[in-house]
Amino acid sequence: MFGFFRRKKVETAPPAVSHIAFIMDGNGRWAKRRGLPREAGHRAGAKVFQRIVEYCLDIGIPTVTVYAFSTENWRRPEKEVDAIMELLERYIDDTFSKYADRDVEIVFVGRRDGLTPGLIEKMERLENESRGRKSRVNIALNYGGRDEIVRAVNRLYEEGKLPCDEASLSAALDCAGRPDPDLVVRTGGDLRTSNFLLWESAYAEYFFTGTLWPDLTERELDRILSDYARRHRRFGGL
Ligand code: FPP
Repeated sequence: MFGFFRRKKVETAPPAVSHIAFIMDGNGRWAKRRGLPREAGHRAGAKVFQRIVEYCLDIGIPTVTVYAFSTENWRRPEKEVDAIMELLERYIDDTFSKYADRDVEIVFVGRRDGLTPGLIEKMERLENESRGRKSRVNIALNYGGRDEIVRAVNRLYEEGKLPCDEASLSAALDCAGRPDPDLVVRTGGDLRTSNFLLWESAYAEYFFTGTLWPDLTERELDRILSDYARRHRRFGGL
């Protein structure tokens, strides 16, 4: 019986995805459908975020990036913004206890300004303590793809490294140091990139699902990975 399960696991083993990224959309609608406040959707979303990220790492995907909060999300009501920030703080606290023995580094990509000093301190402590580990979880927080590119160019300018080439611009981005995403998954049914990983996803495959983020399961992710495995990536060639 156990052999059967083991064999099945190998059959459904995902293809070589070295970097998967998620646009975690649909928390608000998930809550609304249940007559709950939007914050409840983000709480459910945060749990799914933890489960899905752990699953990705367990099945051997070494880099996972999630879009937790965009530079545009500040336009949301203060109560909702506060709830997301609180969830992030809680995630950081959890991560210290849970991931201490996991070979994963956590990197926050995005702008630090606008975040509270307490949150920034926690983020930096987690980054410093996890630096150099084998796998990587990028958390895009206060993040915009255009903003990331502009900050990278300004950094290169300040360091006297302009004009630059693609490799040196890539190396100046927040997400530097890991391969570009192979696959970007967006939940929630919208068909857009929403300013996420604009530079890094130049050749990424996209998968859009109508499933709301808090409803995403490991089984659906397996199906998404199987779909990805059937695609023929040409990178501009034939
Ligand atoms: C988009 O759904 C989701 C967000 C703007 C926030 C994502 C945040 C989490 C999943 C929780 C916190 C994250 C971590 C890393 C602990 P939406 O609110 O736009 O949903 P809607 O389109 O249905 O309104």
